[in-house]
Amino acid sequence: MKRALSGIKPTGKLTLGNYIGALKNFKKFQDEYENFVFIADLHALTLPIDPIELRNNTKDILAFYIAAGLDPNKTTIFLQSDVSAHSELNAILQNFLYMGELSRMTQFKDKARKLNENAIGMGLFAYPVLMCADILLYNADYVPVGEDQKQHVELCRDLVHRFNARYNKEVFTMPSPYIPKVGARIMSLSDPTKKMSKSDPKGDIFLKDDLNIVRKKIMSAVTDTGSDIYYDKENKPGISNLLTIYSALKGISVEEASDEFKDLHKYGEFKKIVADTVIGELKPFQEKYLEVISNKDLINNILNEGAKKARIVANKTLIKVKKTVGLYVHE
Ligand code: TYM
Repeated sequence: MKRALSGIKPTGKLTLGNYIGALKNFKKFQDEYENFVFIADLHALTLPIDPIELRNNTKDILAFYIAAGLDPNKTTIFLQSDVSAHSELNAILQNFLYMGELSRMTQFKDKARKLNENAIGMGLFAYPVLMCADILLYNADYVPVGEDQKQHVELCRDLVHRFNARYNKEVFTMPSPYIPKVGARIMSLSDPTKKMSKSDPKGDIFLKDDLNIVRKKIMSAVTDTGSDIYYDKENKPGISNLLTIYSALKGISVEEASDEFKDLHKYGEFKKIVADTVIGELKPFQEKYLEVISNKDLINNILNEGAKKARIVANKTLIKVKKTVGLYVHE
């Protein structure tokens, strides 16, 4: 059976971008594939974070996973730090990725640019190495992610080629990124030329936002001065972003959405329809989130069971890798 794996890092508040680009798609895999979804808490340490905030974010993501339709009986849901094989494989794989390629990663460059050189941790630089460990431990065939993570998955593919070639055997499965056709890069509502991002919260819709605030944010989204509603990312980035959000939530193409609105010519009306659609999606999601987040036993249970299942799969791969590279595996 094919496997899918993905994760979300518990930093900041999750946005509608995270939901459309990633979260919403995770459950698509749980009926036909062996599905692994985890919380990338070790990755959250790559920039300074308050421990209480990290713990709360972690629980939130778990609750979001369930609210988004993940079923712990079908999907192995776990914490990255609960499965020590991630750190162990990371220690091995760091010898197979090189300084040059790591320093060319867009996300590293973006994050490092904002920091003083003395504050750039090794973990931030080596971020994609741990991500490779996450993916390869489970021999994932598909990795559902938004566009900003595609480069990391591609680096992981390079590593698989390199590693398998070095040892002349298929140690790792070749993963493919699964990028949604619509919504792989949701933009900020206040500046539609910038990505909607947890770490740059202007113009964001947060998944826990009060629904009246969500409506306000959409109604005041930046658009151009015209009145026609059609998809044109270059000249109408704001309208195109709203059309993308609408299409992704409705499960239609942007062309179909443009066609629906071609006779409307009123941005206000259009925004109202987009707001209704987003609220229609978030309302049941938030209700389910509240149900899960208040149930400590349920959260602990899911994480304990998930860790047990994940460890079995991950440790098997780790032993195979250890044997391959010549580490002495004894009884
Ligand atoms: P993270 O936590 O930054 O983001 C989680 C997911 O949300 C997607 N995303 C977006 N999609 C569309 N529009 C946006 N504006 C937007 N912003 C974020 C991201 O592409 C991502 O899929 N490195 C990962 C976590 C991770 C991981 C892994 C993922 C660690 N190990 C192994 C897959 C496989 C991250 O920080 O995502």
